[in-house]
Amino acid sequence: MQLYLDSAKLDEIKKLSSLGLIHGVTTNPSLIKIAAESMPDKPDLESYIKELQKAFYGPLSVEVISTDRQSMYREAMLIKEKFGMHNNNVVVKIPICTAKEMDDKNWDSGLEIIKSLSLHNIPVNTTLVLSPSQALLAANAGAKYVSPFAGRLDDYLVKAYFPGTKRSKSDYFPREGMTASNSKDVGTAIQRVIHGLPNYVNDDGTVSGVHLVGRIVTVLKNSNLDCKVLAASLRNPRQVVEMAEVGADIATVDYNTIVAMAMHQVSCDGIRRFAQDTIEEYRKLFTASSQQP
Ligand code: E4P
Repeated sequence: MQLYLDSAKLDEIKKLSSLGLIHGVTTNPSLIKIAAESMPDKPDLESYIKELQKAFYGPLSVEVISTDRQSMYREAMLIKEKFGMHNNNVVVKIPICTAKEMDDKNWDSGLEIIKSLSLHNIPVNTTLVLSPSQALLAANAGAKYVSPFAGRLDDYLVKAYFPGTKRSKSDYFPREGMTASNSKDVGTAIQRVIHGLPNYVNDDGTVSGVHLVGRIVTVLKNSNLDCKVLAASLRNPRQVVEMAEVGADIATVDYNTIVAMAMHQVSCDGIRRFAQDTIEEYRKLFTASSQQP
């Protein structure tokens, strides 16, 4: 499974690219906002995004901002025009579902744009995918990538089935779903059992973000559709590894989670122990040479 960086911060992209860790970068309007707010002056975003593209090899996803078909198409073409020249690596991010409410008639604009862009050979990363059925539609319309939002699905499931449960953003959510027995907030879980509500979280059969990604991997493979599964909205190292276990092609991960992936208490203990155990004769082996890395 390849790793992408989920960030619009130049320093993070440069750092992880220099370590050879990332094979692509994903952005969205929220990530651009975070990056812009960390700068001393208001940025010229066109030049800034071009600078991001020069800092790594691989695709950069840039998202449209409108939800009506004409504007989305215009924005997608502008993204292609402004950023498509550098290594030809820009990918246009289009939301799968453009409806703002469940009874909104505008459910299909995203799919229409995915189809049009794909016919023009413009790669599309379909964003805000929360179900296997949405992924199937996007892949049929011609999307090159689907981005299932694993963490946001977990948040939604907790809110829907175990309201009031206290979790922080990076808390692990069980891939088999949350039950009365593994809920952190047992009180709330027991309340659900007492009131005859389902003990097992189930939303169109999907019980967790990891389960969502695994189902999408299977569905697209069984359908012989040429569309990569780009697991997104990830919260912790365990979830990232589980994405590889269920067969995601790519995981897009934020900087802090990548740092956390490198860390382990026992590795740190080992480093200190090796330093303590280094005898003088062994140290001498390394003092004779003046070679630089
Ligand atoms: C990436 O493509 C997504 O936009 C991103 O992973 C969303 O993450 P969030 O749910 O943490 O905002």
